[in-house]
Amino acid sequence: MFEDLLRDWDGEEVAVRFDTPSETWMIVGVHSTRLGPSCGGTRMKAYPAPHEALRDALRLSSAMTSKNAVAGLPLGGGKAVLAVPEIPRGEARRALLLRYADLVEALGGTYVTACDMNTSAQDMDVVGERTRHVLGRTVEAGGSGTSAPSTAVGVFHAIRAAVAHVFGSEDLSGRSVLVQGVGAVGGVLAGLLVEAGARLLVSDVIQARAAEVADVHGAEFVAPARAIATECDVLAPCATGGVLTEETIPMLRCRIVAGAANNQLGEAGDAERLAERGIVYAPDFVVNAGGIIHLASLELLGEDETRRDERLRGVAETLGECLRIAEAEGISTGAAADRMVAARLSAA
Ligand code: NAI
Repeated sequence: MFEDLLRDWDGEEVAVRFDTPSETWMIVGVHSTRLGPSCGGTRMKAYPAPHEALRDALRLSSAMTSKNAVAGLPLGGGKAVLAVPEIPRGEARRALLLRYADLVEALGGTYVTACDMNTSAQDMDVVGERTRHVLGRTVEAGGSGTSAPSTAVGVFHAIRAAVAHVFGSEDLSGRSVLVQGVGAVGGVLAGLLVEAGARLLVSDVIQARAAEVADVHGAEFVAPARAIATECDVLAPCATGGVLTEETIPMLRCRIVAGAANNQLGEAGDAERLAERGIVYAPDFVVNAGGIIHLASLELLGEDETRRDERLRGVAETLGECLRIAEAEGISTGAAADRMVAARLSAA
């Protein structure tokens, strides 16, 4: 299985270590260094089998090549997976992160890491004790802290661009936007939308969390099971991946899908299914680049917050270009985004 996955992959390099004390497979996928050092977060997760972890690392690192390229960053694509038997805490977690940092350091800057699922800015502080090739440490440790608010700002700009494309004006007043998942990103996005005059609907499996956001912003609460089929101008998936599938796409009653969640499409063909229904799908890796833009701008490129904010506004232009290419060429927005990635890579 390892052999098949590696043979079929078009990336540059994979580093694999088995960490005996924690029984953890450490896998770093370096998909591309064409535009700069490969960069992407470290995912900590218990997988049913090691090859599932490898599959995730390969798929996610190639997605980072697309995300970083389309965001106009001087970064390639990479991703790391720590396939743990169970999520470690305390001293065992710290020891694992230090040994993992040694692996990142051994790659000599080919791969630059950051947070992802189940890893935090505090974890990156630990990683930073052994390697310079880390972004997203806490502000106290010299990093730029959490990137979720910047991700939300990027999603907000993307929604404006998609609304402008579909309705002829980027004005959000009176437009209904359903935010599915009001966590670190969705919660901030909700506030930005209300400030811009949108009619907000919110949904979250943690009902108390959704109720609180609904209360603060005077938004409508939508039960999680009803979110997909609720009528709205924009559906913003900000919870989990795989929400747009052969089963769910026929139920949608929105004009636009634009949200932060990674891997929103169940499979590549779902982009065509959305296009056939006349629903404008804003590709997730274009929309949710705000987090990596934040980290790269402030920490790698040494820019200030004003320049970072300009880059975040650039998400609107990038998405606008993607939507225009899709319309002009009669292709799905996913295919248009892939074309933009290919153009940036071949120009490098
Ligand atoms: P989070 O864990 O803080 O928030 C996710 C929220 O979604 C939680 O409140 C959770 O209860 C809710 N949720 C989970 N399943 C749900 C369901 N089926 N229906 C409704 N609500 C559900 O995560 P965060 O950081 O806000 O990220 C949201 C999404 O954006 C994730 O898919 C993440 O991979 C993606 N993303 C996040 C970035 C960041 O900077 N945090 C950057 C790029 C992508």
